[in-house]
Amino acid sequence: MAFSLSAASHSLSSSTRVSLPSAVSSSSPPLVALSSSSSSPHSLSSLRTISSSSLFPHSSFVQRKHPNKSRVISPKCAASDAAQLKNAKEDIKVLLRTKFCHPIFVRLGWHDAGTYNKNIEEWPQRGGANGSLRFEAELKHAANAGLISALKLVQPIKDKYSNISYADLFQLASATAIEEAGGPEIPMKYGRVDVLSPDQCPEEGRLPDAGPPSPADHLREVFYRMGLDDKEIVALSGAHTLGRARPERSGWGKPETKYTKTGPGEPGGQSWTVKWLKFDNSYFKDIKEKRDEDLLMLPTDAALFEDPSFKNYAEKYAEDPAAFFKDYAEAHAKLSNLGAKFDPPEGIIIDNDTTQGSPEKFVAAKYSTGKKELSDSMKKKIRAEYEAIGGSPDKPLPTNYFLNIIIAIGVLALLSFFFGNNNNSDFSGF
Ligand code: HEM
Repeated sequence: MAFSLSAASHSLSSSTRVSLPSAVSSSSPPLVALSSSSSSPHSLSSLRTISSSSLFPHSSFVQRKHPNKSRVISPKCAASDAAQLKNAKEDIKVLLRTKFCHPIFVRLGWHDAGTYNKNIEEWPQRGGANGSLRFEAELKHAANAGLISALKLVQPIKDKYSNISYADLFQLASATAIEEAGGPEIPMKYGRVDVLSPDQCPEEGRLPDAGPPSPADHLREVFYRMGLDDKEIVALSGAHTLGRARPERSGWGKPETKYTKTGPGEPGGQSWTVKWLKFDNSYFKDIKEKRDEDLLMLPTDAALFEDPSFKNYAEKYAEDPAAFFKDYAEAHAKLSNLGAKFDPPEGIIIDNDTTQGSPEKFVAAKYSTGKKELSDSMKKKIRAEYEAIGGSPDKPLPTNYFLNIIIAIGVLALLSFFFGNNNNSDFSGF
């Protein structure tokens, strides 16, 4: 392992981790400024750059004000809107292509959902994907160091689409990032309800530590509490195929490596894989081979090849990218739903084209390459037609065959013209 820290040193003081706006009140819910300045839902230019103060205003009431219409919109914590979700997904894609923020979006979604405790029934006390990570109270947990950057990136999209909850936006950004990085399509649903105030945030310490004394036991303790099993722990850890660890955030990783010193995006940090913006199974291959000092391996990553049960899956995913994609997609969808309260209860599906039973895609090659065997009666009929004109289906017709036909037609035309004129003249006297 390139850089080893104790669990204690993993917890940096909040002042060294994130720079939060001065006017932050931990008891304040975010006041979301809605923007209707854009006419096109797909243009990045419509995404306003926001000051961090709009994330943490010091208002003590939950209201949203429409800047153009000068009216106060009553608080809405429920139901995202399907059309807005689809448009927001397009905006997220633009953001991903310009900012290369895939990894931090995945971490954002995971850290909002990963606080879930299956032993607590009540919402939102049970934690999970409920948008609570937007509050400073939770953002300042040591495990969330650096996620303020992700929140700043998605806030303009939140401003633009008033009917999308933070909880949905975080999960939409994460799933879209996986897909855009070349990963599997995640069978997502939306409609997550947001918590409304910081006192609904979970207590610190629900997310895993990267360097605990007994990594495999620790992973089981944390992920079993979420209701996830060994297969899901290993599959989800494969998300580290994306991104980097930064010493100034988590305390893990090198300040830079040969793979990160030029970006893309902000340079620096230490990645788990060489191509850390491409979602594939290289995380498992690289950990197995331990091939490069410049690649990161956390103690919890190493545990995946040390623990006998985890190892079964890790070995499989190193060999079989399709198996990894399938298990990852399922585990990611499950993670994204943990603890969430949906409105409507069945959720909102926006990727209809990925649902089962959709019409088969037309593939031209499929229809043009296959040879179909002719029936015997059809073969006989074709042979008879060939033989009637002096040929055979087994050998090509002589090249002068068509020439002879053309000459014959020409001769017939001349004769009929000649005799036709004579006939006309015969009857011209009537
Ligand atoms: C298994 C327990 C896990 C531990 C101990 C762990 C720990 C860490 C640490 C220490 C970092 C570095 C953060 C930084 O310095 O900026 C990190 C980054 C990351 N984690 Fe995990 N993680 C775990 C599981 C997961 C899961 C389940 C996912 C997603 C499904 C995930 C996705 C990511 C991503 C994408 C990054 C890169 C973020 C970036 O480049 O900005 N991690 N993780």
